[in-house]
Amino acid sequence: MAISFTLNGKAVNFEGDPETPILWVLRDHLDVTSPKYGCGAGLCGACTVHLEGAAIRSCSIPISAAAGKAVTSLEGLAEKMGKAIQDAWIEFDVPQCGYCQTGQMMSAADLLAKKKQPSSDEIKNAMSGNICRCGTYSRIEKAVKRAAD
Ligand code: FES
Repeated sequence: MAISFTLNGKAVNFEGDPETPILWVLRDHLDVTSPKYGCGAGLCGACTVHLEGAAIRSCSIPISAAAGKAVTSLEGLAEKMGKAIQDAWIEFDVPQCGYCQTGQMMSAADLLAKKKQPSSDEIKNAMSGNICRCGTYSRIEKAVKRAAD
C-alpha cells in the first residue's frame, strides 16, 4: 500500500507496512537523519518532527497517520522559523553530545509558533518532554528566548 505525504515541502511516497513508525520511514526509506531514535516509546523527544506544523513523537506514530499531510523535519525547518532557532542554538553553543538537539529545536519551533514571547516557565513546560542527558537545559532556555527576539 502506497502512502503519499509531503516531506519538507516535497511530495513523497512510502510503499510498505502502514504501521511503520514515521521515524523509520524518514530515516530508513527517505534518508532524513535529523530525527533520532532514543527510547522508541514516545518518552524522550529525540525523534520529534512536525506533522501539519505540530510537534509529534515520530517513533510512536505510524506513517498511515501522515497520509495526505505535511511532515517537516529539521532539514525543512530552516526555510521557516528554523533559521532563527538554529542561529540561536549556535550562538549559545547549546549542544554537548548533540543527539537530542534536533528534537529540542523542533519542539522549540512548535512552542514559538504558538507563543511569540514565551516566559521561562512556559519554555520549561513546553520543553519538558525533550530529555537531554547532557543537561543543556539552561542553554536551551536562553536559545529559545533569543530565537523569540
Ligand atoms: Fe521517540 Fe524517544 S525516540 S520519544
